[in-house]
Amino acid sequence: MLKVENVVKEFDGFRAVDELSFKIEKNTITGLIGPNGAGKTTTFNIIAGALNLDKGEVYLADQKVNDYPAYQIARLGLARTFQIPRALKKMTVIENLMLVPNGQSGENLFNSWFNRSRVKKEEAANYQKAYQTLEFLELTHLEDELAANLSGGQKKLLEMGRALMADPELILLDEPGAGVNPTLMNKIAENIIKLKERGKTILLIEHNMDLIMNICDKVIVMSDGRYLVEGTPAEIKSNPEVLKAYLGEKTA
Ligand SMILES: Nc1ncnc2c1ncn2[C@@H]1O[C@H](COP(=O)(O)OP(=O)(O)OP(=O)(O)O)[C@@H](O)[C@H]1O
Ligand SMILES: [Mg+2]
Repeated sequence: MLKVENVVKEFDGFRAVDELSFKIEKNTITGLIGPNGAGKTTTFNIIAGALNLDKGEVYLADQKVNDYPAYQIARLGLARTFQIPRALKKMTVIENLMLVPNGQSGENLFNSWFNRSRVKKEEAANYQKAYQTLEFLELTHLEDELAANLSGGQKKLLEMGRALMADPELILLDEPGAGVNPTLMNKIAENIIKLKERGKTILLIEHNMDLIMNICDKVIVMSDGRYLVEGTPAEIKSNPEVLKAYLGEKTA
């Protein structure tokens, strides 16, 4: 589903991602963990086409997507969430979902003037889809709430909803559990599992080890921009190298 090969990304000579390679199988939940500054978000940005890599390759399915811009990668079925939720605060929850671009003809002035019935139908379909996304997230009661009024956890759920509006095959989640209370955390975990049951593939950055241990099939550990090790949650939990990386010691 996703293959990252020898990827390097430097910021002013500093290697944020250093010869990183890993693979993700279809229809799995994979955790991407590592200490602060390990290069996890940078890796997401490269995969999603938000950052250009300096070296290496990224493949989606079997297609090399290195130089593809973000919108093109999105079209290939990839969606991502951001570490800091990007909901528009002055818009309602449902509006935030309906805003996700999906080639609506209403965006085209010609269509909105001369093809009103088609635009109306598409708006109705878009609303339907947004509402179904809220049903999936169990957030229908917040449909008309301003995004600014949501709790941290609800914002994370909305962020997930915005990613789902694009019907992605591969979903990159950047810290969906950060700042989320335990009740909503369970909901987020359940949603991720439901997505897998629907055939989706999920790559998840997270510092909450319970979430990682409970839902991941496989965990990949990064440290100092590099691939450190991968394994099942149980293997990773008892790996001394991983512990060392988290304690801030240099790993060999
Ligand atoms: N745009 C940028 N310009 C310069 N340095 C950057 C930039 N983005 C990231 N970095 C640096 O690259 C390194 C990796 O950052 P990244 O955000 O990928 O880490 P992370 O693993 O996601 O950390 P966290 O768990 O804290 O979110 C850090 O040292 C960071 O300061
Ligand atoms: Mg990060």
